[in-house]
Amino acid sequence: MKPNRFPIPFLFLAILALLAALWAGLMRLGWQLPALTPSLALAHGPLMISGFLGILIPLERAVALKQKWMYLPPLLAGLGWLVTLLLPSPPLGPILLNLASLGGVAILIEITRRETALHTVTMLLGALTWFAGNLLWLFGWQIFQVVFFWQGFLVLTIAGERLELSRVLRPSRQSQLLFGCIVAIYLAGILIATFNLQLGTRLNGAALLLLALWSVRNDLAWRNLKHKLPLTRYIAWCLVLGLTWLGIGGGLSLVFGAQIAGPRYDAALHVVFVGFVISMIFGHAPIIFPAILGVPINFQPAFYIHLILLHVSLALRVIADYANWHTLRMWSGLLNEVAILMFIGMTVYSVRKSFAEK
Ligand code: HEM
Repeated sequence: MKPNRFPIPFLFLAILALLAALWAGLMRLGWQLPALTPSLALAHGPLMISGFLGILIPLERAVALKQKWMYLPPLLAGLGWLVTLLLPSPPLGPILLNLASLGGVAILIEITRRETALHTVTMLLGALTWFAGNLLWLFGWQIFQVVFFWQGFLVLTIAGERLELSRVLRPSRQSQLLFGCIVAIYLAGILIATFNLQLGTRLNGAALLLLALWSVRNDLAWRNLKHKLPLTRYIAWCLVLGLTWLGIGGGLSLVFGAQIAGPRYDAALHVVFVGFVISMIFGHAPIIFPAILGVPINFQPAFYIHLILLHVSLALRVIADYANWHTLRMWSGLLNEVAILMFIGMTVYSVRKSFAEK
């Protein structure tokens, strides 16, 4: 592996977006913190989705495909979140974020053109939902009305990647068909939610639950829980816990239906965004970062500390949300963030050590 420092400024912008989003998340939980910019608290969602992950996901592809133009979308996402925060009068920031997601679609069109398969089409659909959500947001739709599109970006991207990585299990035609049907129900849920939020939310929930159940038979992660290699075992735990939260999130949306604000809105969103997405990031980091930077991440048993902290604190946050227990919600949300910061700290430490040794 050859060390590659070129993506470092992009990663720096992504981590900065994450830190700003975490600060905003604490404000939204009720912690009394200085508002660093007037729009910070309200920008939490866009910063997480289009800032942090909108840089990271296209960046991984730009590095993998070694195409210069593919660095443009992560660059636009980086400029977009900065402008959204620093120039409060829209729409320049949202326009840049729209262009970033349009670039994300272009990258996936190229990937799908090179290899037309169920997993690439799923990821393309994910990029399209990101763009569609951003477009509606630019035209003034409320975040609770577009959040399923943003969720679609992350869920379909990760589902597509998992499908690709699980190809070694040679999924049967039947299970691929089932996967395709679940994706179709999921997309129908997102579209229906734009005019019938209740029905759309329940369909969305049903699809997430089905996807989690589908993974039990078809995702490699479940078989690797007892793998003899410690890193493979750790990754499997991250993925299985994430998939479990995906199923729980689906179940909650199916049973309780649409939420547009308040603690139950918080639970419905973060069971998927923190429980599923962040756990998947914890699990994929030891694969993605070496691919981006060309240096290994050495597994440490201490990685389990942030993993356990993330899931225990999220369980407490969901309990607090449903019990309307404000103080517990504030503290458990804070601990979610501590877990993420510990993960970032350990990853940066491991990467720096590997660069120093090269
Ligand atoms: C890890 C710590 C996090 C904390 C403490 C946090 C906190 C919050 C809070 C308190 C809200 C408002 C909920 C309400 O209205 O009651 C919120 C909304 C939201 N969060 Fe998070 N969040 C976190 C992580 C994430 C992540 C990882 C993502 C995405 C990947 C995310 C995406 C969103 C979105 C899209 C909204 C909706 C924003 C809106 O309606 O304005 N959050 N978050």
